[in-house]
Amino acid sequence: MAKQTWLTGITTSGTPHLGNYVGAIRPAVEASSNPDRDGFYFLADYHAMIKNQDPALLRQSRQEISAAWLALGLDTERSTFYRQSDIPEIMELTWMLTCLTAKGLMNRAHAYKALVQENIDNKAADPDRAITMGLFNYPILMSADILMFRATHVPVGRDQVQHLEMARDIAQRFNHHYGDLLVLPQAVVDERASVLAGLDGRKMSKSYGNTIPLFESAKKLRKSIMKIKTNSQEPGEPKDPEGNTVFEIFRAFATEEQTRTMRDDFAGGISWGDAKQRLFELVDAVLEEPRHRYDELMANPERIDRQVRRGAEKARELSQPYLRELRRAVGVA
Ligand code: TRP
Repeated sequence: MAKQTWLTGITTSGTPHLGNYVGAIRPAVEASSNPDRDGFYFLADYHAMIKNQDPALLRQSRQEISAAWLALGLDTERSTFYRQSDIPEIMELTWMLTCLTAKGLMNRAHAYKALVQENIDNKAADPDRAITMGLFNYPILMSADILMFRATHVPVGRDQVQHLEMARDIAQRFNHHYGDLLVLPQAVVDERASVLAGLDGRKMSKSYGNTIPLFESAKKLRKSIMKIKTNSQEPGEPKDPEGNTVFEIFRAFATEEQTRTMRDDFAGGISWGDAKQRLFELVDAVLEEPRHRYDELMANPERIDRQVRRGAEKARELSQPYLRELRRAVGVA
């Protein structure tokens, strides 16, 4: 069997939270040391620029997210960890793909369509109001990210499956014109992938303002956890763990045995205060060591830079010769 190439992009917006950890970082860190695969993990900072045009914020978020992945143990020896913006070949490939992409295909992108619909609903004079070409072309840049490294498997959330279909579509069109040079990727959607609930019980997400940051002091972490919304059941009343936010977050960090004990204690009427304290202790124990590493990296950003630059060198050893081939194929070299 040919070696699989797994590739994941991380949009560098916002501050990493527990939901990012459980849904994306932890599974990727575990996979990053798998010797049967080549793994590419990159910071999609040019994707982040589409929504974030504040340079200080962009820089800060990129730093925090790189530090988080490194602190949580991403295996940068076995896998390749880099910043999208450090790989100019991706930008060049983006243009080649742009020339082969039907505008109509992009018109059908869910994210773009949703914004147009919003404008129509708000009776804006122009349905494309406030929509940049960056947003419109988003799926093409994402295709270049993937095709540049001949990824075979791309783990993504449900909302990104359409983008993978577009990447295949565009790659096929390129191959039809210029010969079989691009590898068609497949989306890998982990149906069990945990979607963590946030403070208010909805999906933990920056856009809902209900997140628990991954790396704050133990004291602040405790404070955040104490804010999780619960019902008014009294201590001593049996509580239903299913669908309960405290229990769900607990389960995402616990061993099976710890989960079983907690379930019994819910049935036995544990108080919300005690349940939250238990949750805090569990999460804090998992994060304590990484938190030290994170703080150290954030205090020494040159260490983060060194790591990602080395990643970029590794990545470019592949992207440079491959792009030369593609340039010859399209007739500019
Ligand atoms: N669009 C992805 C997201 O928002 C991030 C991303 C950018 C990505 N380029 C990618 C994911 C390439 C997978 C492969 O989550």
